[in-house]
Amino acid sequence: MNKLNAVITGVGGYVPDYILDNEEMSRIVDTSDEWIMERIGVKTRHILKPEQGSGTSYLMTRAVKQLLQKTAVDPQTVEAVICATTTPDYHFPSTASLVIGNIGLTNAFGFDMEAACAGFLYAMETGAAFIRSGRCRRIIVCGGDHMSSMVNYEDRNTCPIFGDGAACVMMEATTEENVGLIDSYLRVDGQGYENLHMAAGGSACMPSHETVDARQHFVYQEGRPVFKHAVTKMSDAVEYVAKKNNLTNNDIAWVIPHQANVRIESAVARRIGVDEEHVMINIDHMANTSGGTLPLCLWEYEPQLKKGDKLIFTAFGAGFTWGASYLIWGYDGAPEAAKSPANFYKEGKISREEWYAMRRKAENA
Ligand code: UT7
Repeated sequence: MNKLNAVITGVGGYVPDYILDNEEMSRIVDTSDEWIMERIGVKTRHILKPEQGSGTSYLMTRAVKQLLQKTAVDPQTVEAVICATTTPDYHFPSTASLVIGNIGLTNAFGFDMEAACAGFLYAMETGAAFIRSGRCRRIIVCGGDHMSSMVNYEDRNTCPIFGDGAACVMMEATTEENVGLIDSYLRVDGQGYENLHMAAGGSACMPSHETVDARQHFVYQEGRPVFKHAVTKMSDAVEYVAKKNNLTNNDIAWVIPHQANVRIESAVARRIGVDEEHVMINIDHMANTSGGTLPLCLWEYEPQLKKGDKLIFTAFGAGFTWGASYLIWGYDGAPEAAKSPANFYKEGKISREEWYAMRRKAENA
């Protein structure tokens, strides 16, 4: 009998309504559309406003609801939910508990997985391990962050980079050969604290008036060293996985890199020798959603994916954590997703106001 493997059978996603563009950003901090586009490649980002909802569980619950609707899966057959996030609603209970409760999944266990911007890679590999072992047949893996909850909108070095959003995939058991998650290379070096962290709020530095006054509950990043490590580690990880699995660049349909900076994505593509046409990029309108970037790319590019496409994911984040995963896509793209408001807005066919109106109509339907 063929070996059990885990294959992706559907993608759901959600980004909040509010779009913060560079023009508005330049009224918040001393920056400009020109600088942000040239140095980061972000034009707009989605922000979860308190009047709409709060917490990463809000974003993930919406994404999972869409996934269940698209796949027409009976929610009671979902056996686990794994949530990759750095911005859980609370220290405890887990975001996964809240998502499971919101949706009403009565036969599932779940937990959060924190590996910063590389979290979705870790969560996919963990989910696949439950499936390959025979423990589960159907699980949901979510990645997403409510980054605006920990971004300092007085720090121009960080605030233009980040956005809010979440997406998720259904992973199911299969014995079919040549589909599913084939291999992952995951690493941590523990050297990243100085350059990328949130200083207070955990058990090492408990919250106090002093930590709030010192603004230690926000993302702190030294951009340049992180940039250099990100390019080197992601490129090396992709090359390692490709070589180990005898893949040449012509075999790879898509590289899906963490969306941290468009210059990082271009540098990785150049270093590994893959044409940028085969690199998924949505940082221009999604920004860096941390654990959300990889599944949000899948969500938007799903209509273009075909069964048998060979994909390589790669990500890099705080820790430092990084890695690459090789996955063979299991179904032909979902054409209805191509007609989604997100793609119309992205292509400039509709305005921001029309996008809001279409989304509200869709949500109330
Ligand atoms: O997701 C986790 C992993 N994270 C990453 O991979 C992020 C990696 N790092 C980066 O993407 C980039 O380093 C940044 C986008 C964070 C910064 O870009 P940079 O080209 O490395 O800029 P820099 O920090 O070296 O700053 C260059 C100049 C500075 O001015 P001076 O000192 O040269 O006069 C900054 O003060 O740009 C200035 N600057 C800005 N100017 C306008 C920094 N932020 C801004 C801004 N608007 N928002």
